[in-house]
Formats: sequence, C-alpha cells, structure tokens
Amino acid sequence: MNRVLIISGHPNLEQSYTNKVILEQLEQRIETLGVRRLDTLYPDYQFDIKAEQQALLDADSVVLQFPFYWYSMPGLLKLWLDEVFTFNFAYGPEGDKLKGKHFLLSFTIGGPQQSYHPLGYNHFSVQQLMTPLEQTAYLAGMVYHPPVYSHGMVYIPGVYNTQEGVEARARDHAEQLITTLEELSLTTSRQSAVKDFVEHWFKEFDKLPDDPGWFLSHIDDSLHLDGPEGTFRGKAGFTDWYQLLRQSFQEGALHLLERMDVSHLEKNHYQVDFLVRVEAVTHNDEPVSILAKEVWRLALDDENFVTLFDYRVEVV
Ligand SMILES: Cc1cc2nc3c(=O)[nH]c(=O)nc-3n(C[C@H](O)[C@H](O)[C@H](O)COP(=O)(O)O)c2cc1C
Repeated sequence: MNRVLIISGHPNLEQSYTNKVILEQLEQRIETLGVRRLDTLYPDYQFDIKAEQQALLDADSVVLQFPFYWYSMPGLLKLWLDEVFTFNFAYGPEGDKLKGKHFLLSFTIGGPQQSYHPLGYNHFSVQQLMTPLEQTAYLAGMVYHPPVYSHGMVYIPGVYNTQEGVEARARDHAEQLITTLEELSLTTSRQSAVKDFVEHWFKEFDKLPDDPGWFLSHIDDSLHLDGPEGTFRGKAGFTDWYQLLRQSFQEGALHLLERMDVSHLEKNHYQVDFLVRVEAVTHNDEPVSILAKEVWRLALDDENFVTLFDYRVEVV
C-alpha cells in the first residue's frame, strides 16, 4: 500500500471506545502507516508545525480520524488544521505542497443514520455537514474521497448501546477504511503507470527511430488515431502516420508534457488528457513550435503493459 498518514484528532483516546479500536486495527494491518496522535503529542495544544507539515509531505494518503463533535471535528483537530495548513504550504501562490495527495475523512458518529435526514432531528445529511472540509481539500489541491463514517458509536453505560456493540462497529469501520485505502493505493499505482508510459512514449518519439516497432507493440489493431494529419486506423494506419511525421521532421524533437490527468473509464480502461508542447525542426531546417491537446484511451493489463486504442491530437 502507499504511505498512509493518520491524524488522530480524538482529544482523549484513553477514554475512547471506538476511535481507539479503529486505530489499533489500522496499526495491526497497514505496514506503511504513520500515526500522529494529537492528544498525546500535544496535550497543551502547542503543535510542532514543521513536524506536522513534514509528516504530511511524506504521505500519499492523509486520513483525518476523529469522533464527530457538534457536527464537525473536535477543537483539537480543527486547531491542527488552522495552524498546519498554512499560507504557501496548503494554499497561496506557492501553496501546492499537498497537491495530488488523497484526503480522506474517517469518523465515528453518535446519532443514528435516520436522524441525518431532512425529516430527522439532525436535519442535514452527513455529506452536507462535511462540505467545509471537502472545500478545504479542494483549495489545498488534494483529492477528496467520500468519507468513511459509522453511526451509533456513542456508548454511555446503561443509556446508549453496549460496549461490545460499539467495538464491533468500530472493527467493521476499520475494515471498510482499509479496503478504501487499498483501492486508493491501487488506483494511484495504475495512474502513475499510465503517466510513466506517456512520458516514455514521448522520449522515444523525440528520437523518431527508423523502426516504429516499439510504438507498434503498444498499438491495438482497433486503434483510432485522429490528428491534424487526418484519421488513421490500426497498426497499419499508425505506421503511415509515423512515416508522415518522419518525412516532415528531423530527429531530436522535444516534447514537453503539461497538465496530465488520468481517469478510470471501466474495467482496465483509462483515459489520459494532457497538453504537449512540441519543439521540432523540419527537413527544410524550419523550426516548428506547436501546443497540442491530446486525449488517449488505453488498456492496462495486470503487468501494467499499455495498449492504445484511441489517440486524439488537436493543435491549440
Ligand atoms: C463534545 C461532544 C460532541 C458530540 N457531538 C455529536 C454530534 O454533533 N452528533 C452526533 O451524532 N454525535 C455527537 N457526539 C457523540 C460522539 O460522536 C461519539 O461519542 C463518538 O463518536 C464516540 O467516539 P469514541 O468512542 O472514540 O469516543 C458528541 C460527543 C461529544 C463528547
């Protein structure tokens, strides 16, 4: 799994019945886990901001783990957020340090599910109550995921629930969180395999080798290639297009990739959108500078081998 950082925002984990169990389960099951237990690290609420920011920098997925207090997070965790998500770290002109990291809220709720409904005594859905935190993730450039939460987690002896009941729900909660984190980790590694492939593709393309064999090994027979030079189909079409480029341009072009975004389509299919800046020289020694928007669709097998079946290039 990728590197997971848990920020434990419970103000007194010793007295917890559920968050404590969730953390114990995570610690047993995830090897690449880091936990910042705010109640013991900072009993006086004086955070070591540099250490907290470094822990965030070292993580791929950040989980805020907390008990739901007054429809939000406990004050300890809110203060951590206020003091650690600083200008030019989490937001502002240079505030891109958390960009692209996964952001996941995991919390325990006392009230029952049906109360978080327009007709229930809590009126609003849990999702609605979480919108300030969702927007926090967006402003920091983080990838927000649907939160993991469980209801009926309050234990007051003789009044609400049983200890065995809330602990069993806490273990289910931990299970659900681990599955979510595993899926995130898999998606991340698949997405970076796609990005690595696109970068490798253009490094090869810069060389414009005589033999297009390496490119063809990644082309599906059903390929649909649409570009300024026309429409081409399959491996034969790709070869024609490639030869056209070789006839126009000298070897040693430069392709610079920008704003690459990989999205999952279905099963093992992905779409990658990006901009490519091309600096090339024609055989007549004329320099050419182009900005193109490209959209590719491809399949990734179990070994992360890429096969392209849709390749669109639009000069912008
Ligand atoms: C100060 C405080 C505020 C709470 N606010 C809410 C609330 O707004 N909604 C709710 O459903 N439960 C609320 N609860 C119940 C807690 O969510 C519940 O006790 C907690 O999730 C149990 O976690 P723990 O066993 O780890 O302490 C509140 C509890 C406390 C102590």
